[in-house]
Amino acid sequence: MIKVVTVKDYDEMSAKAFEVIKEIVTAKPDCVLGLATGSTPIGLYQNMVRDHEENGTSYSNARTVNLDEYLGLPKDHPESYYSFMHRNLFSGLDIPETSISLPEDGEDKAAQCEKYDKIMDAVEVDVQLLGIGSNGHIGFNEPGTPFDSKTHVVDLNDSTRQDNARFFDSIDEVPTQAITMGIGTIMKAKKVLLVASGANKADAVAAMVNGPKSENTPASALQSHPDTILIVDEAAASKLA
Ligand code: F6R
Repeated sequence: MIKVVTVKDYDEMSAKAFEVIKEIVTAKPDCVLGLATGSTPIGLYQNMVRDHEENGTSYSNARTVNLDEYLGLPKDHPESYYSFMHRNLFSGLDIPETSISLPEDGEDKAAQCEKYDKIMDAVEVDVQLLGIGSNGHIGFNEPGTPFDSKTHVVDLNDSTRQDNARFFDSIDEVPTQAITMGIGTIMKAKKVLLVASGANKADAVAAMVNGPKSENTPASALQSHPDTILIVDEAAASKLA
C-alpha cells in the first residue's frame, strides 16, 4: 500500500523525508539504508549532514546500498553516482567507507551484477529511498522492466538521458547505459520512502498511485509493497486522484 503525504514544497518534502530516516537511524543505529541519487534527495541529504553535525546522530554502525551507477564513467568522474554520494552525503557523515556499496562498472558486466546481487542478498534493507523518473522509473528500471528483476544492465531511455543532461556539458556526454538494482530487489526492502517534487513528476506520480499496476510504470510495483510512503510536494501531487 502506498501512503501518500502531500507537503507544500521541496523543503517540506526534504524535512519530512528526513524525519522518516532519522527515526529509523535512531531506533536502529546498525540499520541498512538504501539510497538514491538525483536532485530530489539532495535536500534530505543536507538535513542528514546538518543533523549529524549539530546533534551527533551517528552513522558509524549503519550500512548503505545504492540503487544504481552509470556505466562508462570512471568512478572519480564528478557525475558518477559514487562521486555524487560522497559529495552530497557520505563526506558529511561518519559512515565508514567499508559500509558503503554501490553497483559498479567493470569489464565483466554480468559478474558485476552477480556481485551486487550477493551484496543485496546478504542485507535486509530497513528503508529504501527512491526518486521517480518522469517516465515512472525507479532506480534505472525503465518502463518494461519485469517486476521480479534483480541487478541488471540497462540501456537508458532517451527521456531519461534528456532529464539527466542538465548534469553534463551536453547530451552526448550522458552515458547510454547503467547498472541498477532490480525492482524485485527494491520490493524486498522493509520500508520504501519515495520522494517526488515538481510538476514534471505529476504524471508519473499519478500513474504510480492511481494507475494500473503495470510494467509500463515501474513505480506502480510499489502498489503491492506492504509499507511504502510517498512524500510529494503540491506540484508533483497535482494529478493525483
Ligand atoms: C537515482 C535513481 C533515479 C532517480 C530519478 C529521479 O539513483 O535511481 O531513479 O531517482 O531519475 O531523479 P531526480 O531526483 O533527479 O529527478
